[in-house]
Order: sequence, then structure tokens, then C-alpha cells
Amino acid sequence: MARTRLVIDTDPGVDDAVAILLALASDELDVLALTSVAGNVSIDKTTLNARRLVDLAGRDVVVARGCAAPLTNELDEAGDVHGLDGLGDIEWPDPVTPESGEHAVDLLARLIDEGPLTIAAIGPLTNLAVLQARYPGIESRVERLVIMGGASFAGNVTAAAEFNIWTDPEAAARVFAGPWPITLMPLDLTHQATLHDDDLAYLRALDTEVGRRTAAILEPYAAYHDQWYGNRDVIMHDAMAIYELIAPDAIEKQGAHVVVETGGTHTRGATVIDRRRGYASSSTRVGVSLDNGAFVAVLRERLARYR
Ligand code: BDR
Ligand code: CA
Repeated sequence: MARTRLVIDTDPGVDDAVAILLALASDELDVLALTSVAGNVSIDKTTLNARRLVDLAGRDVVVARGCAAPLTNELDEAGDVHGLDGLGDIEWPDPVTPESGEHAVDLLARLIDEGPLTIAAIGPLTNLAVLQARYPGIESRVERLVIMGGASFAGNVTAAAEFNIWTDPEAAARVFAGPWPITLMPLDLTHQATLHDDDLAYLRALDTEVGRRTAAILEPYAAYHDQWYGNRDVIMHDAMAIYELIAPDAIEKQGAHVVVETGGTHTRGATVIDRRRGYASSSTRVGVSLDNGAFVAVLRERLARYR
């Protein structure tokens, strides 16, 4: 079986961390690099967290720093969700994994030149917008772009907008306007993917560094969810981009046309997802539903592979 050459473009981020650990435990994927972007926390912190996670996984994966700010607006961090450090504010050893000297955007361009490349974009789309501006036409040479972002029915930063798109709407608008082969995992899908207290207990009981740390960083995330949604479901937004790549039939998808609102009095950062039949065969696919029990079983089994 050919392994999928993958770069994860990320702003870790508690759920990014789970997605990254899932990917790094999965034989189906050849994770070549983590490219950082400013999002949940600053670029210094997301880059540091990416290095921490590669160390935690015990893998040899390049970490390259990407864009420090959205294209036009200021960064508005999500420390209330992910902790001020982006990873639940627990103690971490100094990372051994170095930061690459190559900028994330140039690294992506080089890896696309070297062979079929899939990108899982689980943060704001700033790096990808800069990539397509700096290397015109490169979008159509990417094998696949799986994005976690957007929402059809309700946002999570505003009533209209989801965090990754809202953080850099201009970047997202440019990416969705380009010929990328996009599969989108919006909130309507990701809110179906949840962990519960018994899963956190399972992770602790693994009695491994990965198990303990994953449970510890998810704990404040569960508390935040309780505050906003009235239960401790831990929503696995970013892991959906990885699950799609390791279990291609697990998430039901449909064709759609997606544009991003960059103006709007109350709707800046909204994704307008047109699911009418005329777009059924669109190359842009949107995740619709999944079996959470099957997902959790895969996640448990993969995270148990770390010793
Ligand atoms: C997205 O926003 C971030 O806070 C999460 O890491 C995820 O990528 C969910 O809206
Ligand atoms: Ca993220």
C-alpha cells in the first residue's frame, strides 16, 4: 500500500495535537512535515507546540514555521479554548526536534515539486494563500487538500463564522476561489466527532506519555465546552481531516460550492456552502456525517500504539 505523502498545516491547539498524534501513529500516512501558522495562539507558540508534539510522538518529522499573522486583520488568539500556551498550559520538556530553517511556504512548494502531496490544513489558511500567491498555479499540482474549517449552520466564534476561516477570511476566500482539490470538514461534521470522560480515562489508563499528556490537554478543553455548550463533549474538529485520509469511506461527503464572506456586517468569515444538486459532482467535497463510535475506536487503537 502506497503511503500518502502528507504535510499537516497546523496551529496547535489541543485538537490539532490529537490530529497530529493520530497521523503520526498511522501507517497509511507518510507525514513529511508540520507547517505552523498563527491561529489558536501566536506563531512562536504554535511552532513550539508542533516541536513538542513531534518529540512526544518520538518521530522524525520536519517542523517549519509559517506565517505570523493573517493577511489583513490582527490575530485574535483562542487561549480561552486551548490554554494560553495553546496546549492546555501543562508542563513540557524543552523540545529536541529543531525548527527548520526553511519557511513553511517554501517547504510546501518544494515538497509539491518532489511528488504527489496531500495537505491537511487544520488552522487558518494563511500559509496556503501565500503559497498560491508566491507560486502561481501550484494549487492544481497538489494531490489533495483536506481542510478543517467553516460551517453551514452555525459558527463557533460568531453565529456565522468558524474559527479557522474567521481568523483569516481573506486567505480562506482566496484558497476557496482557487483550483485546489478540496475536501472540507466543517463544524456540522466535526461536532459529530466527540470524546467523552470514559475516553479520557482510557487515555490515562494507557499509562504512556502520549496517553497521559493527551488526557491532560483535553481536560481544559472539556471544561470550556461545558461552559459554552452545557456538556463535557470534547469535539475532535481537526482529527476529522486526518481520519478522512486514513479511513476514506468513513465520512460521508457530498459535492458543494464554497465561498467565503469577507465583508458582511455580522457575517465576516462565514462559509457559504451551496449543497444544491447542481454541485453534486463538484470536485469540492464537504463532510456530512460519520459514525462517532467507529472514529473513537480508531483513535483509541492508534493512540495505544505509542509506547
Ligand atoms: C478549529 O478552530 C481551532 O480552535 C481548532 O483547533 C480547530 O482547528 C475549530 O473551529
Ligand atoms: Ca486547529
